[in-house]
Amino acid sequence: MENYGDRARIREWRVQYETAGLELADLALDPMQQWHVWHTEAFDAGIGEPNAMVLSTVDLHGVPDARAVLVRDADRFGFTFFTNYESVKSHQLSARPAAAATFAWLDLHRQVRVRGSVERVSEHESDEYFASRPRPSQVGAWASPQSEVLRDRHELMELVVEYEKRFAGQAVPRPAHWGGWRLVPHEWEFWQGRPSRLHDRFRYRLVDDEWRIDRLAP
Ligand SMILES: Cc1cc2nc3c(=O)[nH]c(=O)nc-3n(C[C@H](O)[C@H](O)[C@H](O)COP(=O)(O)O)c2cc1C
Repeated sequence: MENYGDRARIREWRVQYETAGLELADLALDPMQQWHVWHTEAFDAGIGEPNAMVLSTVDLHGVPDARAVLVRDADRFGFTFFTNYESVKSHQLSARPAAAATFAWLDLHRQVRVRGSVERVSEHESDEYFASRPRPSQVGAWASPQSEVLRDRHELMELVVEYEKRFAGQAVPRPAHWGGWRLVPHEWEFWQGRPSRLHDRFRYRLVDDEWRIDRLAP
């Protein structure tokens, strides 16, 4: 008999989404503005990591991949996040510069989905953000060969010590292999949970340079 914990509880667990709901008239015409309204509410509600989005990419074989990253800027150009340019995700994005992202603000019974193209941010933008990071994170960006196999944790900590020594008494420069990507949205969906799974969903799509909003069936 397999032992995967309480599978009956997984099947039976149901949360009723008793929220006020969402009407077309409630929505901002600009989806990034709407995202900021919801992000502020998530932030103010004390939701853990309101900046986290699950970023989906595809590999060279068309097989999807996904992981969380932290949004560090969100403006009319899109969502900026920072990572290692030699990581699996960066290789995937370089080969296929398209991605989807999901913000799951579950305590508010809300989800935002975004699809779009990706581009590297300018060196200047990466430098600026890198300079604002705490020093141990800056050293970590040098020390961690992100997505590569490590023999054990000790190997990583040895690399940290090596780079701490290398940059002792001086500012840590941004490694060329570390920087930002921007996800430039062309399609969005705002989802608000409602009772009996009859949720509210609104999709934004660019039509003739204007955002067109449609209500979707849940
Ligand atoms: C809440 C959360 C936030 C994260 N933020 C980042 C981030 O901003 N940048 C990053 O490179 N990895 C971040 N990670 C780690 C990634 O999910 C992932 O493990 C790592 O980037 C390697 O992914 P890859 O091998 O697909 O490139 C975060 C993980 C979690 C759980």
